[in-house]
Amino acid sequence: MASKYKVQSSDVYINDTDVPINKLNIDDSVEIHELEKELITEAYKIFYDELNENTLFNETYFIELHRRTFEALYAWAGIYRDLNMAKGESRFCQGMYVQSESKKIFEALKKDNYLKDYENKPKEEFAKKLAYYKCELIALHPFYELNGRITRLFFDMIALFNGYKYIDYSTITPKEYIDAAIECVQFADSDNMEKIILDGLKK
Ligand SMILES: Nc1ncnc2c1ncn2[C@@H]1O[C@H](COP(=O)(O)OP(=O)(O)O)[C@@H](O)[C@H]1O
Ligand SMILES: [Mg+2]
Repeated sequence: MASKYKVQSSDVYINDTDVPINKLNIDDSVEIHELEKELITEAYKIFYDELNENTLFNETYFIELHRRTFEALYAWAGIYRDLNMAKGESRFCQGMYVQSESKKIFEALKKDNYLKDYENKPKEEFAKKLAYYKCELIALHPFYELNGRITRLFFDMIALFNGYKYIDYSTITPKEYIDAAIECVQFADSDNMEKIILDGLKK
């Protein structure tokens, strides 16, 4: 039953809208998206400033990105979902497994030293690793909303740590990006995401 995989709109969204229930009681879609944009811009400044040699790109860091960016607006900022969710034909990680799957992803990332050693390695190797973990987090889709933006922020900080600029997604269309995400979620295939990241990685 398809609806089983959808989060009930009453739980997160204002009835029949794409506006999440929020602490400021905003019900206008344009207004809320504008505000989200400002918060994410602010977050880039904050986390850029905080980035240092000791930064660990672990699960706590990832969750904190979401919590600190959106806690003024959303009660579920930094809190994993437990409901099942889907977009289009893609079913993300089942709600009941989000916590345990996340642990697995971040344990693997720890074994890769949180991708902190790629400044002097070939860019291709870095892009491959980034794409692999990015696909894992896309398929996890751990939060109710803002997964795309927080996941990009997370990998942008890793890129920056390794002497690159923020990953540039401006040369591809939104459809190309979503198609690559679909391949991640439905086929565990990160090849197209890897191409996108390789193109977008610049020193
Ligand atoms: N049909 C789909 N199949 C698989 N993944 C998708 C699909 N549509 C969107 N996504 C992924 O979900 C993300 C959007 O999730 P969402 O929580 O709404 O975050 P945001 O609002 O920041 O974009 C996209 O960036 C993409 O990675
Ligand atoms: Mg969204």
